[in-house]
Amino acid sequence: MMPSLFRVVHRRVETHDTVTLALAPASEPLTPPAPGQFHMLYAFGIGEIPVSVSATEDAGIQLHTIRAVGAVSRALCQAMPGTMLGVRGPFGKGWRVPAQGGKNLLIVAGGIGLAPLRPVIREAIRRREQYGNVAVAIGARSPGEQLYTAEYREWRDAGLKVLTTVDQAPGGWGGHVGLVTQLLPGLVTSPAATVAMLCGPEAMMRVTARALADQGMAAPSIQVSLERNMQCGIGECGHCQLGPLLVCRSGPVTGYEVAEPLFAVKEL
Ligand SMILES: Cc1cc2nc3c(=O)[nH]c(=O)nc-3n(C[C@H](O)[C@H](O)[C@H](O)COP(=O)(O)OP(=O)(O)OC[C@H]3O[C@@H](n4cnc5c(N)ncnc54)[C@H](O)[C@@H]3O)c2cc1C
Ligand code: FES
Repeated sequence: MMPSLFRVVHRRVETHDTVTLALAPASEPLTPPAPGQFHMLYAFGIGEIPVSVSATEDAGIQLHTIRAVGAVSRALCQAMPGTMLGVRGPFGKGWRVPAQGGKNLLIVAGGIGLAPLRPVIREAIRRREQYGNVAVAIGARSPGEQLYTAEYREWRDAGLKVLTTVDQAPGGWGGHVGLVTQLLPGLVTSPAATVAMLCGPEAMMRVTARALADQGMAAPSIQVSLERNMQCGIGECGHCQLGPLLVCRSGPVTGYEVAEPLFAVKEL
């Protein structure tokens, strides 16, 4: 339960309320996280919250993309290079990325949900020859709230199909406007050979998963990342209980067959 000390070595402003922090271990590095796992980040004197790892770099540097929604996330977003933070983890079960077999990958992200999916995208690029089609469908509230836009060209150059949409846009915006589900038609050409990974607001995951199931995908091939408030991160406090699951231990990533009945359960 003791956090390790990490230093902010780089801070990148992504949008008006979201930053990416690169954290370097001040002593021993942590176990390298798998795509989709999260750390508990501690802003000293304020509090600790779960945040997904959005990339891992050499020398044990961990990147986290954080949206300021409350006291702790705001303090983390304001942390400047040199600030010391506490880090525990990695925790949870991440994405089950098929290691081989030429599967098609469909990655669907809404808003900050792209952060835990970025390691999957990077892994898919690194092992591009092991997959069939790899498509990334990204939704954001507005053009200014899109994440990692500077990387889309690299993703496309690596052979990924990258589609984007926004909920609303100012005049002059030439891109797609509408829900991320509107990007889906044509992306699943072979349901049995496709693995989908979804992360974003719960309503977005619910309708996307339903649409993919309607296109013939089996529920266990549709993975979603669940979100609940957390305290311990290790399955001991019960804070993240969702139906029969402790999200910190059995999740955050689960199959749609597990998540579907839980989507209706409200957090207390
Ligand atoms: C496994 C996991 C991974 C996560 N990964 C990330 C990540 O990579 N990046 C990131 O920015 N966040 C991530 N989160 C969400 C993050 O943990 C919460 O935003 C954070 O706990 C909020 O704490 P706070 O003290 O800043 O705000 P609080 O004071 O707890 O909340 C302030 C207000 O924001 C609302 N709120 C709380 N959480 C959210 C939320 N997630 N979205 C919208 N409104 C919210 C509350 O209802 C409240 O009204 C993750 C959560 C989980 C469970
Ligand atoms: S956060 Fe304590 S049991 Fe999950």
